[in-house]
Amino acid sequence: MRRKLVVGNWKMHGSHKGNAELLSGITGARPFGCDVAVCVPFPYLSETAVALAGSDVRWGAQDCSAFEQGAYTGEVSVPMLAEFGCRYVIVGHSERRAYHAESDQLVADKAKAALAKGVTPIVCVGETLAQREAGETEAVVKRQLSAVIHTLGHCAGEMVVAYEPVWAIGTGKVASPEQAQAVHAVLRAQLRAAAANADAMTILYGGSVKPDNAAILFGQTDIDGGLIGGAALKATDFVAICRAAG
Ligand code: 13P
Repeated sequence: MRRKLVVGNWKMHGSHKGNAELLSGITGARPFGCDVAVCVPFPYLSETAVALAGSDVRWGAQDCSAFEQGAYTGEVSVPMLAEFGCRYVIVGHSERRAYHAESDQLVADKAKAALAKGVTPIVCVGETLAQREAGETEAVVKRQLSAVIHTLGHCAGEMVVAYEPVWAIGTGKVASPEQAQAVHAVLRAQLRAAAANADAMTILYGGSVKPDNAAILFGQTDIDGGLIGGAALKATDFVAICRAAG
């Protein structure tokens, strides 16, 4: 049986005071029956590492450069993240694809850069509402994932995948458990063709996961936990979601 994973994506939220309260609310609620991580804004990585040291709560970043170093103003490299002890980095979040025009290939290159330094990429895929309504969901997520599978080659089995329907992010419109499971099954099948350990790989669901819908989503066959946005900013909600995962 796959162990569940719940990851908080803080997006561009946080402050020294708020972070300290949130992190102590999470660590104080341990132990969890699942793996737990928070992906925080770059400036807060250091204090997060300190606050979580000695606990089994993991931390990560929300993006990385595809390059190791160089003249890339404003970018943050994976070797830098690795120095902070980052376990995860989110790549290809729909907000980066939409607001920063990230292509499938760039996302794949970022995932490769992460794995090369031992940081696990959480690769996000998902369709827009227009794409779903046009019946293109399966084709879109398969295209997004296929770029990453192709680029990672024999390392594809080491990534975490997150299905995040764009129309469910921050909208309160959660995918039904059946809708989410159907896409997760498609992704799992695609992974099976590429990675020998596909049945052990983690596929997260993200998009308006809340304490009251987490258990039913996480109960689906191919849903191995969640990537949590808004509800990850309140310790009681995030902890309740972690509890729903096991
Ligand atoms: P919400 O949980 O706020 O819908 O955000 C989901 C998300 O984008 C996580 O990466």
